[in-house]
Amino acid sequence: MLIDTHCHLSYSDYESLDAVIKNMDGLMIASGCDDKTNNEVIDIVNKYDNVYGTLGIHPENLNDITLESFKNIIDNLNNPKIVGIGEIGLDYHYTKDNVEYQKEVFKKQLDIAKKYNMPVVIHSRDAIKDTYDILKEYNIKGSIHCFSSSLDMAKKFIKLGYKIGIGGVLTFKNSEKLKDIVRNISLNDILIETDSPYLAPEPLRGQRNNPSNVYLVAKKISELKNIDIDIVIKQTFENACELFDLKL
Ligand code: NI
Repeated sequence: MLIDTHCHLSYSDYESLDAVIKNMDGLMIASGCDDKTNNEVIDIVNKYDNVYGTLGIHPENLNDITLESFKNIIDNLNNPKIVGIGEIGLDYHYTKDNVEYQKEVFKKQLDIAKKYNMPVVIHSRDAIKDTYDILKEYNIKGSIHCFSSSLDMAKKFIKLGYKIGIGGVLTFKNSEKLKDIVRNISLNDILIETDSPYLAPEPLRGQRNNPSNVYLVAKKISELKNIDIDIVIKQTFENACELFDLKL
C-alpha cells in the first residue's frame, strides 16, 4: 500500500479536502505546523481512518506560539492516530535573525518527543549542520523530510537512526544530486512523501499537490534503482509502519 509520510491537509488549501483524502488509495501522515494546523490534524485523524498525524511547531511559525501551543501538542499525544512530533526543525533560508530562538523551540519539541517516545518529522532548510548537531544529542528516530543535502549527510542521518524523506523534488530535471542520493542509499532508509499542497512532482510541477501523487515519487525511485515499483511501494510502507509504529 502507498503511504504519503508527509503532507499538509488543511481545509483552506483545497476546494474539497474530503475528496482529496477519499481519492488517496493508501495512507497519509499529515503534519501540523502551528496551533491552527495542529488542531486541524487532530480533527482530520479522528474523522478519517486512512490519515495519521504528527503535531509540531514549524520554525517559520514561531511568532504566535505560547506555552499553550506545547501543552496542546502534549495533551493530544495519547490519541492513537497521533504518531509523531513534527513538522519541527530549523530554517535559515529567509532569516538567520532568530537562530537561537529556533534552536530553543526545536529542542523543546525534541525533549517532548524523547519523553513520550515519539518519532520526529524534521524540517531543515539551509541549516543541515546545526540540525545534525542537535539531533545527534538526542537518541530519537524520525524522518528528515524533503531531504536536500549531500549523500554524505544522508548517510550520517541514517547512521543516527533517521529515514530520508523523498518527495516530488526527485522528479525535477535539476535534481541530479538528489537522484544520486537515492541511487546510493538503501530502500530500507527511504520514506516517500508529497509535502502537499506544495512541491507537486513532474509532470504536475507547479500544480497544487495532493497525497495520491506520492505514486509518482515511488515510480521515479523504481526507475533510478531499476527495481519494480511494487517493491518500492511495499518497502517504503514497511519503513513507515516501523518508524511511526502504525497500528493498522
Ligand atoms: Ni511540510
